[in-house]
Amino acid sequence: MKELGPIAVFDSGYGGLTVLNKIRQHLPQYDYIYLGDNARTPYGTRSFEVVYEYTLEAVKKLFSMGAHLVILACNTASAKALRNIQQKDLPHIDPSRRVLGVIRPSVELVDELSQTKHVGVLGTVGTVQSESYPIEISKLYPEIVVSQEACPMWVPLVENNESKEGGADYFVKQHIDALLNKDKQIDTIILGCTHYPLLIDKINKYLPGNIQLVEQGDIVGESLKDYLYRHPEIEEKCSKKSSVQFYTTEQVSKFKQTAGIFFEGELNVQHVVL
Ligand code: DGL
Repeated sequence: MKELGPIAVFDSGYGGLTVLNKIRQHLPQYDYIYLGDNARTPYGTRSFEVVYEYTLEAVKKLFSMGAHLVILACNTASAKALRNIQQKDLPHIDPSRRVLGVIRPSVELVDELSQTKHVGVLGTVGTVQSESYPIEISKLYPEIVVSQEACPMWVPLVENNESKEGGADYFVKQHIDALLNKDKQIDTIILGCTHYPLLIDKINKYLPGNIQLVEQGDIVGESLKDYLYRHPEIEEKCSKKSSVQFYTTEQVSKFKQTAGIFFEGELNVQHVVL
């Protein structure tokens, strides 16, 4: 008999909740577990080795909790750890389980969305330095010109619930202007960090109307739906009782306080040690 398990969604902290919201809208029937490594967040400023080590620990934990499929709903973890985990670790840990990221689904869409073929990427320092977006885009669409901008203040603004306040305007405008100054022909910008949808009103305030934003939540939800359809051997191992259970490496009360900014609905939270 196959042991059924939930779909796991992992993030360094709270940002992956924006992705979980959208995944559940597209695929409400499944059970989900969400793990936020809140005690060690942010990942965006950490080295390649550390992000890889932390992410691998989280993936192993989520497998031990019964998940057959883990979504790295964190651009930094997807950029710095996904490839190694898929290629080096999974074959040893359990080749029948899967780990997917959030970068590829957005990258696949940019050619269709951009008319000018000049695309911008906003992300953490780690995601930008990894060059994951330019590398992945150039593999699929070598003619597309990619410019990037790291926005180190945006995650703390969101996590401190300052995204709607006046102080956020300065930092949002600063990075939008910097990105657009790098390439005046940009017509499409990927929000390459799970926290940034929370700043969308401010971002739109400083973005010329002819530039479109690519938000990952819906794209990842759609792409996961398609993945499960194409991989019945994984789909049939996913339990379907529409439940969501949250785990955090921080204190439960602290998680509940901030997670409410990102997630609508009841929060059943447990502490976990990685
Ligand atoms: N969730 C991360 C991402 O999407 C950003 C937060 C962090 O730096 O840990 O890149």
